[in-house]
This record gives sequence, C-alpha cells and structure tokens, in this order.
Amino acid sequence: MNTVLLDKAKHDRNRFNCGSDALNNYLKVMASQQAKKDNTRTFVLEDDINNAHIIGFYTLTMTPIDIKALPHKLQKKYQSSTSGGLIARLAVDKRYKGQGFGEWLLIDALQKLLTASDSVAFPVVIVDAKDGAKHFYQRYGFQTFQDAEHKLFITIADVRASLK
Ligand SMILES: CC(C)(COP(=O)(O)OP(=O)(O)OC[C@H]1O[C@@H](n2cnc3c(N)ncnc32)[C@H](O)[C@@H]1OP(=O)(O)O)[C@@H](O)C(=O)NCCC(=O)NCCS
Repeated sequence: MNTVLLDKAKHDRNRFNCGSDALNNYLKVMASQQAKKDNTRTFVLEDDINNAHIIGFYTLTMTPIDIKALPHKLQKKYQSSTSGGLIARLAVDKRYKGQGFGEWLLIDALQKLLTASDSVAFPVVIVDAKDGAKHFYQRYGFQTFQDAEHKLFITIADVRASLK
C-alpha cells in the first residue's frame, strides 16, 4: 500500500464519505486549493480495484505550539520551539472502516512527519481529534494538551522510537 498526493483530476472526491460532513467537504472543496497555495499537503490511499476511489486521506501542515499547554517536564525541554507538525485531517471512508486503514494512514502520516522533522527539526506532532476520534489517537501514544480536550500531541522522539 502507498499513499499518493491528492489529484483532483484523478480521485473521485464526491464519492468519499467518512460520515463527517466537515471532513468530506474539506476533501471535496479545500484540500486541492490549500495544496496549490503550499499551505497543506493531502495524501490519499487509493483502492487497488479502482484508483479513483479513495479509501482514506490525511492532511499535513505545520502549526504553532503552545509550550505552556505541554506537560511541565516538556516545557523546559522544548522552550525554544515554536512549531510542530500537524495532522490537520485524517479520515477513512465508511465503506472501508474497521479494516486497519485508519491505523495504516496514521503510521504513514507519522512516518512522513518524522522524515520532515529529520530535515527541518520540530519536536512534536499535533492532531485535532474531531468526532470522537480522541481515543483512536490515544491508542497510539498521543496525549491531550492541558488546555484543550480534543487537541493531542506526541513527541517526535516517541514517534522515532516507535517507528524505527
Ligand atoms: C477514526 C478513524 C480514522 C478510524 O479508522 P478505521 O480504519 O476504522 O480504524 P482501524 O480499523 O485502523 O482501527 C484501528 C484500531 O483503532 C480502533 N478505533 C477505531 N476508531 C476508533 C475510535 N474512534 N476510538 C477508539 N478506537 C478506535 C479500532 O477498534 C482498532 O482497534 P483494534 O486493532 O484493537 O481492533 C475513522 O473512524 C474515521 O475516519 N472517523 C471519522 C473521521 C474522524 O473522526 N477523523 C479523525 C478526526 S481528524
């Protein structure tokens, strides 16, 4: 399996339905526009049987870090850091849920962010877990920020340790 960059000429964005209108509409309307402006990158996992069909997608970018919302011992360590990698969106089409694709996409996203961090150095990955997905991310070592119930982070050091 492999993710590829979203290609609006190839991928059937209208067919995609993860059960969240906000995420469906993001893929349909915003993802390509944002990529064209170099604001975000959206990667899709294609169905092998029909490459136009999207199994799932994720969107990556950078975000400011609120150091004070990190646990105390990390605040000192990362005090000079300003940015983290952001998994801005991640979703699996309802037709493909419960088959391990969400996990596969998350690991693929973390692998890409780890590679990026090896070049441009940022210490954490942040995710905004919408629609009850918080527990999904906690399974993979993400922790909640002190000030925001749905915002979670994992350190790049932990990503590196678990993916190597
Ligand atoms: C959350 C989501 C990405 C999971 O995708 P999926 O392909 O169904 O997940 P997987 O099959 O890879 O599940 C991997 C493991 O996580 C668990 N899991 C899946 N969704 C979960 C959730 N919402 N909360 C807790 N655990 C969850 C599964 O039970 C599975 O555990 P197991 O291996 O012990 O059986 C998918 O349900 C989705 O797209 N939801 C709607 C959009 C969304 O909320 N996106 C995240 C916000 S940005």
